[in-house]
Amino acid sequence: MSHEHLSPALRRIAPSGTTAMTDRATALREAGRDIISLSVGEPDFRTPDNVILAAKAALDGGKTKYTPVTGTMALKQAAALHFRRDLGIACRPEQVIVTAGGKQAIFEALAATVGEGDEVIVPSPWWVSYPQIVRFAGGKVVPLITHPQHGFRFEPSDLEALITPRTTWLLLNSPGNPTGAVYPRDMLLGIAHVLRRHPQVLVMSDDIYAPLNYTAEPHATLAALCPDLADRICTVSGVSKSHAMTGFRIGVATGPDWLIEAMGRLQSNGSGNPSSISQAGAVEAFEGPQDFLQDWRERFRARRDKVVQAVREIRGLSTPVPDGAFYCFIDAKPLMDRFDHDDNKLALHLLEHGVAVVAASAFGGRDGFRISFAADDAVLDEAMRRIAQALA
Ligand SMILES: Cc1ncc(COP(=O)(O)O)c(C=O)c1O
Repeated sequence: MSHEHLSPALRRIAPSGTTAMTDRATALREAGRDIISLSVGEPDFRTPDNVILAAKAALDGGKTKYTPVTGTMALKQAAALHFRRDLGIACRPEQVIVTAGGKQAIFEALAATVGEGDEVIVPSPWWVSYPQIVRFAGGKVVPLITHPQHGFRFEPSDLEALITPRTTWLLLNSPGNPTGAVYPRDMLLGIAHVLRRHPQVLVMSDDIYAPLNYTAEPHATLAALCPDLADRICTVSGVSKSHAMTGFRIGVATGPDWLIEAMGRLQSNGSGNPSSISQAGAVEAFEGPQDFLQDWRERFRARRDKVVQAVREIRGLSTPVPDGAFYCFIDAKPLMDRFDHDDNKLALHLLEHGVAVVAASAFGGRDGFRISFAADDAVLDEAMRRIAQALA
């Protein structure tokens, strides 16, 4: 299948599994089929009006030209405020890079540091792009397998067993996509204990879902808990998920100066600055009112409860209760005989019945699928009815 002109790096990666399913659902819908898409990871809520107004004002005010490659000072200051206020991470605006979505920040950090044969520990099930980016960079993905009965969280000893002198990164994502796993403070302190014994290991802390935490404990993140490790932690955040701004394409990251500089070097030769208009919107997102987040969180929590209950009522399906984000990672093992033990066939079967989901194998899992519950109640009710019918 590979074209002779494709680079070895490109040959190592596939298109994003979630995007593929979403595109397929869109094509069927355009062909007139009634398809509910629970495959995409974005809130259904409208982008807040104050953000829209700020973006319009940027357009009207002529902010339509290049900005500094790594973001405007206004947005770096707003992001530094966000890191401090919302995540407890002390950082200077100069230690922030603004990217075209959290995805670009993760791509740049890994592409700037991972060399041929370097090992990157990735807890699985994982966000689809992590292993692809590692492979693109020439690194070796070392899966750290987690299990539903442990809420898809690993223990510090599981981590330590996989660390070698070639380990360059640990990728942490809490609240996590696709499982909704949240690492509480005590577990992070245990992980930090291991990391102190292995100074060669950098940590990516992907906190993009931080406001969507349904536990009683506030969000915990490694760089805030362990300032002694902050010089090897890259914390990624943004506005895509928290502020329903996926189309704006703005992410922010903070970390040691050398890493932020390296990411900027890549960005200056790759994409250049993120959209000037989107940056103006993101300043308002971080600096404007945040009280709506509480309301959104409650609504997501109610949807989560509804979906978990509906899943558990379907014979053959099971799931732990996701503590954060807006995904439910569903096990369908008892039903897999019907689908030749291929969860892509299961996902296609559900698509035939009008619901787009993503197979667990796209996330390094197996025998199941992920749904997003970022859809309104009536849509979720109908989707769960169709899934029940398809699997009856
Ligand atoms: C875990 C995780 N990290 C990062 C991203 C990237 O988000 P963005 O849309 O800001 O690039 C996503 C989006 O799906 C995600 O699920």
